[in-house]
Parts: sequence; structure tokens; C-alpha cells
Amino acid sequence: MGLNDFEKNQEKKVVDASKKVRIGIIGTGWIAGSHMASYLKQPDVEIVAGADLIPGKAKAFFEKYGLENVKTEYASHKEMLADKSLKLDAVSICTYNRQHAQPAIDALKAGVNVMLEKPFTVTLDEAVEVIKAEKESGKILSIGFQPRMDANMQMIKKICQSGQLGQIYYIQTGGGRRRGIPTPYGTTFIEDETAGLGALGDIGCYSLDMVLNAIGYPKPLTVSGYKSAFFGTDPNYSNYVKIGHPEYAEKFSVDDFAAAFVRLEGGIILDFRIAWAMNLDTPGDTIIMGTKASLRIPSTGCWNGTVGGPMTMYHEVCGEQTQTQIPIIEMKENLFDLKIRTFLDACKENGTAPVPSSQILYNQAILDGIARSAKCGREVEIVIPEI
Ligand SMILES: NC(=O)c1ccc[n+]([C@@H]2O[C@H](COP(=O)([O-])OP(=O)(O)OC[C@H]3O[C@@H](n4cnc5c(N)ncnc54)[C@H](O)[C@@H]3O)[C@@H](O)[C@H]2O)c1
Repeated sequence: MGLNDFEKNQEKKVVDASKKVRIGIIGTGWIAGSHMASYLKQPDVEIVAGADLIPGKAKAFFEKYGLENVKTEYASHKEMLADKSLKLDAVSICTYNRQHAQPAIDALKAGVNVMLEKPFTVTLDEAVEVIKAEKESGKILSIGFQPRMDANMQMIKKICQSGQLGQIYYIQTGGGRRRGIPTPYGTTFIEDETAGLGALGDIGCYSLDMVLNAIGYPKPLTVSGYKSAFFGTDPNYSNYVKIGHPEYAEKFSVDDFAAAFVRLEGGIILDFRIAWAMNLDTPGDTIIMGTKASLRIPSTGCWNGTVGGPMTMYHEVCGEQTQTQIPIIEMKENLFDLKIRTFLDACKENGTAPVPSSQILYNQAILDGIARSAKCGREVEIVIPEI
């Protein structure tokens, strides 16, 4: 398949607007706005309900979009899911990390398809419970990794799967930001009781997905992990000072940097580092090393899972060392719109989830392993139960 063929694939498919998908939104904060923006572009969506833990927040949220008739008078997401008059087909779960698992389980048990924001959950145990509910319900659960929709990300997978790299034996991945602790709307990302994981969960999950999806999600076996929080706990952290919130330093109770050495099935080593804040431009590009060729995927200044520029493949031609540059494919559609559209198509056609939980379970197992290893200060085994 050539690059031009991909452009054909990017052409929008015709949507059957006569068959509407009835949507509810759980958690109406920052990212819920992106879900709304994408839903509102779809001709086959009716936003029918919303719930937020903070009284009045959901109502104000929908009013901002001029949607007066969305039902929001619910004390909890459970009450919304129990309202059978809504005839919900699906929900977007846009709650902070610690509130991913329970609403997802409740929605699946109520027979509703689920678009769950990333990271999947905080712990591996939670992810396992969500998948059990998914299996019992037979409903669709897709995890909100919009970088998956990027043709450049898909190109990494094509290259790995084509065999051109030979046997892959070592991967370095991660990403960072010099000053990028996310506090634009308060402290839900930086407090343990709401976030559970810091940079590790927020942007580390993207780096892991970029490479693990490319190589077919081999099982993780062991991990030696490290976490720190030198920037987030410092009242003089420059961005706290700039926004006038030095007290955020006291609230900061997650990681702002994490690193790990992970062994994957098939003898592959995964070397990982992630930073919300650091005194460095980047903690390194993503590299995938193989016996026939290696691939360098440039990082970005503000890591969010995007391919940062043309990729380079280092290989040999007739005994000579050479490099091939893989140009960036310009995306015609917004990745978030594609994330929502592919989910809706799966709901309507009873298809498979665009980003399946069975894959992201391994991603979650690594995040969980890093957190456990960092806590006990030694390598730990990763045991993933059969579900
Ligand atoms: N895909 C992306 O690009 C992207 C970008 C930003 C955030 N996120 C993810 O989205 C999630 C939410 O982030 P955010 O920035 O919107 O946070 P936020 O704090 O702005 O919003 C979360 C909202 O959820 C509500 N909430 C929590 N538990 C609830 C429950 N059980 N029922 C109803 N409401 C509940 C909170 O009151 C809050 O209003 C996080 O997990 C984050 O990782 C994804």
C-alpha cells in the first residue's frame, strides 16, 4: 500500500444519519469539551444526558454549547445510567483517572457502550474488573487513545509488521515537557486522590501505546521502575509562580518523572522515560532497533503521543550503511474526530472497539508495574490474570 492509497482511506465515509446514537457524558470537565466538539460534528448523534459530581457543572457545560434539553439533574453517574427513559446507546467517560473504572463498570453493566478516556485505569486490578464487565455485557469498550488514528502512527506499525526491521530486540520510548505539569483547570491531574498516576499515566501511556501497538502488544514480564516528583512539589516551580498558585506544590502527590526497564515476551527490552517537567529539551526520541534496520521516531517538545517529524530508518543496502526518511503524512481529519467517529461506527455496526481493552490491558500492566516497582525499590514481576 502506498502513501497515496492511505489518502484514499482518509476520505470520509458516508454516515447513515437516520440511525442516531444516543450519547451521555460522564464528567463534564476539560476533555469533555473535546468529546462534545467531535460529537457535534457527527450527523448521527444525539447528546441526551450528562452527569458530573459537582452540582450544576453538567448543566452549565451543555448550556455553553446551546444544548438546553440535555438531561443533567442527576446526583451521580449511576442515577443517569438508571434513567431508562434516556435509551442511552453509549457514554463518554471523561472523569479523572481514579473515576475511570467504576463508571465504566457501571455503564457496561447497564448495557451501554463506553468510550473511556485514557489512561485506561490507575491500577491493573481495576482494568481487569472493567474488562470482566465488558465481557459480561457484550458491549463495546474503546479506550481514548486518539494518536492511534494518526496515519503516521499507523505507519510505524506497518514498518514493524512488514519485517523490514528484522527481529526487534530493543525499544526506547517516552517523551517529555520542560515545564508541562497540567494544572489549567485546577489540581485533578496532580492529586493522588483524583489522578492516581502523574506523568506516567497521563502521557506515559501514549509512548507505550506507540511502540507496543506497533509490535503487536507482546506480554510484559518484569519491570524495574522509578518515579520522582522534584518539580511538582516545589513551590518555586516556575509555572506555579506564573499562574499564582505556589500552594499547588503541597497538593502535588503523584509523579512528574518516571523511568523503567521492562522485559517483554519475545526477548524484547523496553527502555522508558517520561517527564511532565525536566531541565532538558527531550528525554529522547523513540527508537525501535532491529536486526535488519532500526527506526527513529522524533519526539516533540510537548509530548502528547504525536510523531514529531519525519522518521528515519537506518539500514544497509548491498553492504553500505544508508538511511531512508519516511515523510510525515498530513492528516486531513482531526484525530479526536476520528476517535469519536470510529467508536460510533463500532457502536452502530456492532463492530469491534477501535482501541480494544485487551491491548491496553498490557499498557496498564506496565504502568501498574512501574508504580509498584518504584514503591518497593526493586524489579517486580508482571502477572496478568486470564479474564
Ligand atoms: N485524550 C486526551 O487527549 C486527553 C486530554 C486531557 C485529558 N484526558 C483524560 O481525561 C480525563 C479527564 O481529564 P479532564 O482534564 O477533563 O479533568 P477535569 O478535572 O477537568 O474533569 C473531570 C470531571 O469529571 C468529574 N467527575 C469525576 N468523577 C465523576 C463521576 N463519578 N461522575 C461524574 N463526574 C465525575 C469531575 O467533577 C470533573 O468535572 C483524565 O483521565 C485525562 O487523562 C485525555
